[in-house]
Amino acid sequence: MDATMSKPVILTGLRANSEFHIGNYLGAILPMIAMQKKHAGDYQINMFVPDLHSFTTPIDHGKLYQNTLDNLKMFVAAGLDLNNSDTFIYRQSYIPAHSELAWILDCFTYFGEANRMIEFKDKSQKFGHDTVSVGQFNYPVLMAADILLYCAKYIPVGEDQRQHIELTRDLAERMNNKFGELFTLPAEWKKQLEFTNRESIRVRSLRNPDKKMSKSVEDPAGTIMLSDKPDEAAKKVMSATTDSVGAIHLDWAKQPGISNLLQITALLQGQTLQDVAKKWEGKTSYGDLKAEVADQVKNFLIDFQSNLAKVDDATLLKKLEQDEEAMRKIADTTLLKVQKAVGLRPA
Ligand code: ADP
Ligand code: TRP
Repeated sequence: MDATMSKPVILTGLRANSEFHIGNYLGAILPMIAMQKKHAGDYQINMFVPDLHSFTTPIDHGKLYQNTLDNLKMFVAAGLDLNNSDTFIYRQSYIPAHSELAWILDCFTYFGEANRMIEFKDKSQKFGHDTVSVGQFNYPVLMAADILLYCAKYIPVGEDQRQHIELTRDLAERMNNKFGELFTLPAEWKKQLEFTNRESIRVRSLRNPDKKMSKSVEDPAGTIMLSDKPDEAAKKVMSATTDSVGAIHLDWAKQPGISNLLQITALLQGQTLQDVAKKWEGKTSYGDLKAEVADQVKNFLIDFQSNLAKVDDATLLKKLEQDEEAMRKIADTTLLKVQKAVGLRPA
């Protein structure tokens, strides 16, 4: 089916990552699939891999192409419905209009406003001003192009991306004031939050529950990768750090390890944290809780890995190529409008 843009657009970027852990799965992948289930029908859902964004900081380029496909396969294994006719999946670099619009927008972005982006400030501190890339500096403008090309209204992202959404709105407004109605503005931040209406979930490290679970931690035993052997993952849960309180309560300050286990079991079962906490409240055997969570994590990994093995590469690639063609048409239409406005094409 061809995208007609008759439905409002939800646009989301699935960042190409080398590997995922259950924190990514529970905090990013599952909510995206829930969003597809909830909104397909009423909205067009653009799910794209921002592959051009992947090397604003150094990566292993030999793996990028395959990682992109592997990531998409994980979404499919997690339940993404490829047959849904309102959902379009595509790779950013397969639609050249993204880069072209980004350049045009660059010339209407003030150095000072780009320089205020917190993510850039953080990265330039980490890498040093002389080695952080101009791509890293520039990437919020590319992100604005990702959004504006498709007239996207809702962009479900976390608080760390808020500034980039606001920059997108500012750029769109600036261009509209100068050239007439070129762009549809994405909804303002408050409306974005109302629309998404979900708390952001932070799964903690099993070994160091004051920190979030992450692939780049000192103690890998605290992180369960989706590729972990199910039995080994269960062992990681059994040796999770807890506390010496001696009774189970949901209390992130005093019992972060226990609260984290309650949260993991709640998310894996699709129950609320409050319901799960009520079931365990006051019980004294940490071993019982660990055993139950270990079993659930193990079963989850067995299912997930078997689903992943069943994802058919050819079917995925065919869907990607079809959607990329449909999206190219939409993106090129927006780009041509902008090219005309800025004088690159006859009006
Ligand atoms: P990592 O921190 O492991 O490098 P990324 O920063 O690449 O992970 O995050 C990719 C996505 O997964 C983001 O949407 C992020 O919010 C989500 N995410 C990462 N870690 C967690 C976590 N521990 N709990 C919940 N969500 C997470
Ligand atoms: N910057 C986003 C992130 O770090 C990824 C991204 C790129 C994106 N382009 C986008 C997200 C457009 C939403 C819309 O997570």
